[in-house]
Amino acid sequence: MKRAIYPGSFDPVTFGHEDMILRSAAIVDELYVAVLNNSSKNPLFSVDERVSMLRELTRDIPNVVVTSFDGLLIDYMKEIDANIIVRGLRAVTDFEYELQIAEINRVESPTVETIFLTASPNLSYLSSSIVREFALYGGDISKLVPEQFVERIYAKYDIKKRGAKN
Ligand code: PNS
Repeated sequence: MKRAIYPGSFDPVTFGHEDMILRSAAIVDELYVAVLNNSSKNPLFSVDERVSMLRELTRDIPNVVVTSFDGLLIDYMKEIDANIIVRGLRAVTDFEYELQIAEINRVESPTVETIFLTASPNLSYLSSSIVREFALYGGDISKLVPEQFVERIYAKYDIKKRGAKN
């Protein structure tokens, strides 16, 4: 049984995350999509909100389980008995950070492997922080996130629809 984990902040989930989830779920037996509960950040969406958005998004993918975790990823992986980490690489700028995390995780937990999927080219510019920045100023985020989340994201900034701030 190949059980993998796709960890992240998902604040908010984007088309880039959706692409990673679809592609990695197709190559492992079971994929845990795990939201990091990071108390030191000031998130846009609560962990519960992010978990429910991801559940909504993945409800038709039978081998995907959405959860949250805090503490070290490798400790959580022992809990759920997973030994593969999936991460996305968009551009060379992601590489150094991702390499560092992959190496420290492997040093601390030698049975853990990290696999990287390169982002689909049309999504390689996309990040949650770009979505937040765009939404903050009333930009059009409909090409960046699944449609059902657009209004929820604007609502966080008190924007009812594109360009119409309260
Ligand atoms: O979506 P993100 O914010 O780039 O995801 C980063 C994440 C969640 C993969 C990483 O921060 C993480 O694994 N955090 C949990 C704590 C941990 O295990 N850190 C590993 C090395 S210090």
